[in-house]
Amino acid sequence: MGHSQDFLQRFSGTITSRDRAIMFRQRPVTVWLTGLSGAGKSTIAFELERQLVSSGHACYVLDGDNIRHGLTCDLGFGHVDRRENIRRVAHVAQLMNDAGLIVIAALISPLREDREAARKIIEQDKFVETYVCTSVDTCERRDPKGLYAKARSGEIASFTGVSAPYESPQNPDLRVDTATSTVDECVSGILDYLRNTSLVDSRWPDGVRSRK
Ligand code: ADX
Repeated sequence: MGHSQDFLQRFSGTITSRDRAIMFRQRPVTVWLTGLSGAGKSTIAFELERQLVSSGHACYVLDGDNIRHGLTCDLGFGHVDRRENIRRVAHVAQLMNDAGLIVIAALISPLREDREAARKIIEQDKFVETYVCTSVDTCERRDPKGLYAKARSGEIASFTGVSAPYESPQNPDLRVDTATSTVDECVSGILDYLRNTSLVDSRWPDGVRSRK
């Protein structure tokens, strides 16, 4: 990013990411929740974290709203800034996966191209794209933070779903809708998927199967 990396080297220790995964007895993945503001991403993320932790998994939620108070507090909501927001969070997710943790990322991440960039950073076989497909009508009716009203009145510019685009995933790994399912049902669907693909498997590494 702007700086020459010609003189940078990588230095590896003797501990591998597999060693760390074995220590946590889990396959680290990133569950990437994408969807509109108010779709239920954060609610699902924190409930999924709670259930994973209560069954003995080590995980961490990277939530757009929270991360924007620190790591990405210099960024706004234009295309370039959103892209940078997603890039930084994807790198943090990659590092956390490398450290052995299961990551749950909850970001609007409205553009396909930016989600694909995140998939590349995190790596294809660790990236579980989960589309929280709650409609803009439902999100706007809920309007938990009053932001849709502000977007309609023009007080907030470039608001996703109102005055900025949201490109829905064409082929997500998972799709959940908080309008037709409870949060518990959405979380169960994600947990089932993780178990079925053996991404979360307490027998890891003995019982490990490859994902595809
Ligand atoms: S992303 O587009 O860059 O992925 P991110 O998930 O980090 O977005 O942040 C979205 C949150 O920022 C929303 O839930 C909302 O609370 C707040 N927000 C403030 N302004 C906007 C805007 N113009 N568009 C969307 N969300 C906004």
